Amino acid sequence: MLTAEPFQQTGRTGVDRTVVRVTEKVRVADGVVTLTLTAPDGGRLPDWAPGAHVDLTLDNGLTRQYSLCGDRWDAHTYRVGVLLEPASRGGSRHVHELLEPGHTVGLGGPRNNFPLVPAESYLFVAGGIGITPILPMIAQAELLGADWRLLYGGRQRSSMAFLDELAVHGDRVQVRPQDEHGLLDLAGFLGTPRPGTRIYSCGPGPLLAAMEAACAGWPARTLHTERFVAAEQGAPVRTTAFDVELTRSGRTVTVTPDVSVLEALGTAGVEVLSSCRQGTCGTCETTVLAGVPDHRDSLLDDAERAAGDCMYPCVSRSCSDRLVLDL
Ligand code: FES
Repeated sequence: MLTAEPFQQTGRTGVDRTVVRVTEKVRVADGVVTLTLTAPDGGRLPDWAPGAHVDLTLDNGLTRQYSLCGDRWDAHTYRVGVLLEPASRGGSRHVHELLEPGHTVGLGGPRNNFPLVPAESYLFVAGGIGITPILPMIAQAELLGADWRLLYGGRQRSSMAFLDELAVHGDRVQVRPQDEHGLLDLAGFLGTPRPGTRIYSCGPGPLLAAMEAACAGWPARTLHTERFVAAEQGAPVRTTAFDVELTRSGRTVTVTPDVSVLEALGTAGVEVLSSCRQGTCGTCETTVLAGVPDHRDSLLDDAERAAGDCMYPCVSRSCSDRLVLDL
């Protein structure tokens, strides 16, 4: 969907980055621009699937995540939508005010934490700039001949991007600006729980929380959400240090309560790719071979957490005295 606020600077370990050029910048709604990005030599860009995002590293050193919202079958062009965040600390404001066609930005990814899984039918619920990952999902659902409907909310109509593109889908799309309709009627839109339907939602935290409540009666794993702002987490399970054993390097690193696993590894000279450092982007995913992680990310669902075979060391910690990682 959107840019990750609060911003993160490029991590010490960073992400493998190439460069793309901005070839077009279009205002598509109040406070929203799209950027069209191409390789500087006009060559192919990496393939992606609906739900994928890229990291863009701006020339002020900030890295932000943006969902790809263009045509996934266009191998030479990416499109992202960028909301001017009222509390922008440099990322979205830079894009809106300084980034222009001809400029280049660093590219990481694409990476997909929000894949569209096969289903007979889909219900999409988007809030504001959260429409961006939903657009290619709709294109995919159309391609597959799946049944789908979209509920799209926003503050007011003028702030809601891509209404023209969505208009071609007729009454499959319900556009519900808050100043005209009030809060989204989630229960009315979702209807009776039924198997075979997948629900995808992207938007502000309160919308995603409301979606989780509204989908409580649906079969497990029906609802798929993507967050670019970390979900609230309780206190860590343990308040004492723990050891992280690294099987590939044969080293053991002690993680004290005041630093993250990622920071402790970095201090010990063990480089792990990272980007958001808030448990939302998936870059730092690390395989867990033994021990019990204290999952504190916004990516894994309950079943994946219970499996305990991977973790995001930028935020997740340990329940056990020792974690064994495939590093
Ligand atoms: S760096 Fe983004 S999830 Fe860890």
